[in-house]
Amino acid sequence: MPIPKKNQVVGIDIGSHSIKVAEIEDSNKGMILKNFGMIGLPHDAIVEGSIKEMQIVSAALKNLFKNLRIKNKNVATSISGYSVIVKKITIPQKGEEDLEGSIQGEAEQYIPFDINDVNLDFQILPSQKEETEEEEKEELMDVLLVAAKKDIVEEYISLFHLTELNPIVLDIDAFALQNALEISDHEQSGCHALVHIGAQQLTINVIRDGTSIFTRDSSYGGSQITSEIQNKLNISYEQAENIKLGGKPIETSQRPIFEEIFSSTVTKWTQEIKRALEFVATTFGDIEVENILVSGGSCLIPGLIKYLGLETGLKIEILNPFANLEIKEKLFDTGYLNYTAPMAVISIGLALRSIGDR
Ligand SMILES: Nc1ncnc2c1ncn2[C@@H]1O[C@H](COP(=O)(O)OP(=O)(O)OP(=O)(O)O)[C@@H](O)[C@H]1O
Ligand SMILES: [Mg+2]
Repeated sequence: MPIPKKNQVVGIDIGSHSIKVAEIEDSNKGMILKNFGMIGLPHDAIVEGSIKEMQIVSAALKNLFKNLRIKNKNVATSISGYSVIVKKITIPQKGEEDLEGSIQGEAEQYIPFDINDVNLDFQILPSQKEETEEEEKEELMDVLLVAAKKDIVEEYISLFHLTELNPIVLDIDAFALQNALEISDHEQSGCHALVHIGAQQLTINVIRDGTSIFTRDSSYGGSQITSEIQNKLNISYEQAENIKLGGKPIETSQRPIFEEIFSSTVTKWTQEIKRALEFVATTFGDIEVENILVSGGSCLIPGLIKYLGLETGLKIEILNPFANLEIKEKLFDTGYLNYTAPMAVISIGLALRSIGDR
């Protein structure tokens, strides 16, 4: 369980649909939600994790900080998508300092980008109880390698400088998600699949007894549905989004068009999730995923949870990152928090990071 220390950071999740910001205070009575809010971004300000409209995104972030009266300038954020690679590698045993010097060479063969174009980070994983004989003989160790493309990292750093914020932690979405699970009231032991579906990103992280055994990001999300509605009805993206979220009623004659768009997209997502589960089942034969914890705005699509449950045969629950936090009712509208909970997950996971974390 991550225990926030004194040096707290503001968690900022920069999504293509909206920015979410969260602050958590650690007290001797437990963790308190100090702040949470979101602000929408115009379509195309962020595309595939890359910040296309730096000024607009910075202005939105500034506004959000101002509206929530956040004073802390130390922030934690995360990236995801094709510019991040997480891989478990097995290499001859060596100390952390040795590895620091040689990680670039070790990583080279596992990274599909030019090694000079990425920032590398690693974590030596605790040795598994059931080491293979070969591993024992050769004294190998498992290392979790995280590589992020430098151009994306630099974009995020520029954004924070422009916004006069101090980036302390750069995380990845899949790990922030896992952090949020750890403070939730969901069962921690056993094997659980986290599935986060946003506007442009679908992130899967399968956790076994608190350790991530599989992660994958795909370019899927709610904006696929919005774009299709836009194309089929020949309207603007914003109008399509409004119809999608029920802001404007659908004409009865158009209902079949919508149903087709929703069901074909949700089918694609479900296939992606099933592929991941099958991969986990064949790679780690001995384990069984017990349930799927969904989050991200697109998990709210009507019928998605039921369909995913039927297709996978697993119990589907919505991950609520607020469940174990103390919520001061004077400060927050409970209805708003309940509605935004699935979207808040990554920002809450990030707010738990503290200065000193890498
Ligand atoms: N009640 C709802 N029903 C259906 N879709 C919803 C609902 N609420 C939000 N969404 C959709 O969820 C998406 C936004 O979710 P989220 O905030 O998790 O995405 P994001 O983090 O901004 O995007 P990214 O995928 O780039 O990280 C949008 O596509 C939005 O239309
Ligand atoms: Mg997101």
